[in-house]
Amino acid sequence: MADGLVSLPHWMERGRGGEGERGEKLRNQKWGCFTSIRPTDNMRIILTIFFGVLFGFFIGVSFPTLSLTKFNPSSTLLPEADFSNSYGGNIETLVKPVLNATESPHLNDSSKIWAPSNPRGAERLAPRIIAAESDLYLHRLWGNPNEDLTSTPKYLVTFTVGYDQRNNIDAAVKKFSENFTIVLFHYDGWTTEWGEFEWSKRAIHISAPKQTKWWYAKRFLHPDIVAPYDYIFIWDEDLGVENFDAERYIKLVRKHGLEISQPGIESKTRITWKMTKRRDDFEVHKETDEKPGRCPDPHLPPCAAFIEIMAPVFSRDAWRCVWYMLQNDLVHGWGLDFVLRKCVEPADDKIGVVDSQWVVHQSVPSLRNQGEQYEGKSPWRGVRERCLNEWSMFQDRLAHAERAYFSSTRTGPSKLKSL
Ligand SMILES: *[C@@H]1O[C@H](CO)[C@@H](O)[C@H](O)[C@H]1NC(C)=O
Ligand SMILES: *[C@@H]1O[C@H](CO)[C@@H](O)[C@H](O)[C@H]1NC(C)=O
Ligand SMILES: *[C@@H]1O[C@H](CO)[C@@H](O)[C@H](O)[C@H]1NC(C)=O
Repeated sequence: MADGLVSLPHWMERGRGGEGERGEKLRNQKWGCFTSIRPTDNMRIILTIFFGVLFGFFIGVSFPTLSLTKFNPSSTLLPEADFSNSYGGNIETLVKPVLNATESPHLNDSSKIWAPSNPRGAERLAPRIIAAESDLYLHRLWGNPNEDLTSTPKYLVTFTVGYDQRNNIDAAVKKFSENFTIVLFHYDGWTTEWGEFEWSKRAIHISAPKQTKWWYAKRFLHPDIVAPYDYIFIWDEDLGVENFDAERYIKLVRKHGLEISQPGIESKTRITWKMTKRRDDFEVHKETDEKPGRCPDPHLPPCAAFIEIMAPVFSRDAWRCVWYMLQNDLVHGWGLDFVLRKCVEPADDKIGVVDSQWVVHQSVPSLRNQGEQYEGKSPWRGVRERCLNEWSMFQDRLAHAERAYFSSTRTGPSKLKSL
């Protein structure tokens, strides 16, 4: 059952306790923002990012050996396996032009460069060397870097997972073609075990104990890092994908101009917001009616410009905005769904639900007997209270920020001019 995942900060971890009946009852509603947590070694934080560190390190170590020995006769004088200096080759030929820079008209003193249009902090660099964006493509350690990639996926899908849900994730991943980069955020410390799945080799595994989906997203999906992806799926682990195909989904999203979307939801349990419920008479819907009183304005959430945070899909541009709205400390992401509309214009046209590619919310009650007691409350209650608390904190921050913005513009230059 999960909109997000359970994450208890270490200071909340004070010994395990059972859940009350109330937790039991409430867990069957939308409000449970958790799923199973395997007890894990709390003392360690393991961030397993395969591609970055290894690739960078080995390229650094091996580059001179690879290319220079061919061109530099003096390197043959060095013992073949001389790793006394870690470059293992004739480093002087690489360093010389740098030391001699003042004599070269093309290599002026770099402190004289100041390019204000560069990204902040990089103004001293020649603009043409700036690599401002990256991706999550896996490279090999040898050969010509230009020839490393056999394909360049256009889409990204992330799942925040525990090992218990591996079979569900296995089924889900198979609905995403080779045009997708797959990232798994592991909240339970189990990573190498996923090697049993063939696709796991091409997936990127990032592991940090007991964190939520939005915690990972804020830290590992910076818009500059995921820049090459047209669409980004940031999904929970308990979605049934029998009636879903990612390529077809994207086709529909493009066709209907959806910048922020989710698949229609079928669920055995009650669906909180009618907007997200799959409609079988539509390909895509962008508005709904609701219970009386819920939608004072039919063009605003939860009747329009609204999706939930369980299975969102963002366009590149929308994600660039939404990422900045994610608060570093509000890890559950509650309240986000109501303000996603601030990132696209017109929101009631660019936010919608894809009905003909739909998923089942399985509401896996996997939090049972997990979590920790906190201030005498059952684990379940403690987390739920935090979710709600985060929601109101988020609302407050947003309201304050907008008030500050508008009051500053009111007393700003435009006001003075009119005086
Ligand atoms: C710099 O270049 C000049 C002329 O090419 C050369 O004579 C000199 O040895 C070089 N200095 C160093 C430190 O390599
Ligand atoms: C290097 O400096 C010289 C003299 O200061 C200048 O004339 C030349 O344009 C500079 N070259 C580059 C590439 O900036
Ligand atoms: C992957 O993307 C390419 C280019 O858009 C497309 O032709 C191909 O059909 C896609 N693969 C699948 C399995 O849909």
